[in-house]
Amino acid sequence: MKVRTLLECNECRQQVARWVGRCPGCGGWGTIHEAAAAGAAGSSASLQTLAPDAEDEPRASTGFTGVDRVLGDGLVPGSVTLLAGEPGIGKSTLLLQVVANLSAAGHPCVLASGEESRAQVARRARRVGIDGRAISYLSGRELADVLRTVHAAGPFLLAVDSIQALRDADASSMPGGTSQVRSCTDALVGLAKSTGIAVLLTGHVTKDGDLAGPRTLEHAVDVVLTFDGDPRSGLRMLSGGKNRFGREGEVAWFEMAVHGLREIDPVGLLRSGCGEPGSATGLPLAGRRALAVDVQALISPGDGPGRRQVAGLDARRFQLVAAVLDRIVPGPLLRGDLFGASLGGVRIDDPGCDLAVAAALVSAATGIPAPPDSAFVGEVGLTGRVRPVTGMAHRLAAARAAGCSRVFAAGEPGPSEDLLVIPVAHVLDALSWVGPPEEAAGSDRSSQARETRPA
Ligand code: TYD
Ligand code: MG
Repeated sequence: MKVRTLLECNECRQQVARWVGRCPGCGGWGTIHEAAAAGAAGSSASLQTLAPDAEDEPRASTGFTGVDRVLGDGLVPGSVTLLAGEPGIGKSTLLLQVVANLSAAGHPCVLASGEESRAQVARRARRVGIDGRAISYLSGRELADVLRTVHAAGPFLLAVDSIQALRDADASSMPGGTSQVRSCTDALVGLAKSTGIAVLLTGHVTKDGDLAGPRTLEHAVDVVLTFDGDPRSGLRMLSGGKNRFGREGEVAWFEMAVHGLREIDPVGLLRSGCGEPGSATGLPLAGRRALAVDVQALISPGDGPGRRQVAGLDARRFQLVAAVLDRIVPGPLLRGDLFGASLGGVRIDDPGCDLAVAAALVSAATGIPAPPDSAFVGEVGLTGRVRPVTGMAHRLAAARAAGCSRVFAAGEPGPSEDLLVIPVAHVLDALSWVGPPEEAAGSDRSSQARETRPA
């Protein structure tokens, strides 16, 4: 075995006494190597052509078809992937399962966790049914330790849980702070690019979708994956954002079960299909597809100012649709507290679901269920006019897949053999099933509706 003692920068040849993320000589990130290894690899500052390599290293399967698809056909050696999500959503579990699958397929991995002790990770592995003996654990708190150990081990993948828990002793701020997250990410990118080791990092995001600490690391990595869902329900969606090796916008669905994450097919799962009042099906876009999802509304009478509360839905769009309905639908329909939710807590911020929100609210207010097997698509404007939305072909396909037979839709979606598409120009056009309000509203709907309202 070779004895390696000398550490030097492969850019400027600066020698250093210990493992550091950033070279004190030239300021390069992740450029510190053991001198023998660096010498063998040659300087990365020398001129090279872009002639294709004899054989690009093949991608490795993560063991999850959906994750592979979102990544763009598996994990690319030397790539850096960020898995972002709110605390408790299942990032550590997904990371562990991917590490276990890769290890079992002969791709050695190192799991560096600064969030959990070895015993905690071992306990999770047992719960998920993974043989922990096949996984190499490393404390992921000190960047220099991680770099040194991973250099020596040379695994296929380094999994880091999380980037915010990692600390670069040479950077000034607190762990999790902007400069810490940035310097640790830069060092790991340097490691991946100089060694060909793939790196998979988890990163916490806050409720409004910001990476706690900075979003800045998104530009440094090759692929950004977002793990999403309502922590109280078991449903999880993994979606691909920026991707240097595949298409953006691919999506995979999971269920967080008692023994870990399980891939599922969500089609039909997010509709109750039982024709209850207060429920209407929307067809939101989810990545490159659309999905039929029930929107639910509840009205609780009250004298106060009227709360508006949502789960899964976009709060601002919900309030806007409620305000529009309040103005154009005759009678005090929406008095009291209004609650809105999506089935399974699926996050819906697609304005194309406004019309489904309107239908659910009116159905809740009147007690009249929306027509069976119907879906609603369109963006509601302040005047009550409904605007067409993009991705109509995907949305109609989703309606078909979920067994809908009738779609209320804005614009001219074109003829559809197996679906009855009812054109909608105004919110009231989509509410004909409620009965009287449409007639009462007349031609200049909004102004007349105001007049017909009791004082
Ligand atoms: P975790 O992966 O720790 O989330 P994150 O790393 O994003 O914070 O998952 C935490 C939640 O998942 C926790 O509430 C427990 C639940 N869980 C299951 O329901 N089943 C399981 O098999 C595991 C491991 C966790
Ligand atoms: Mg975690």
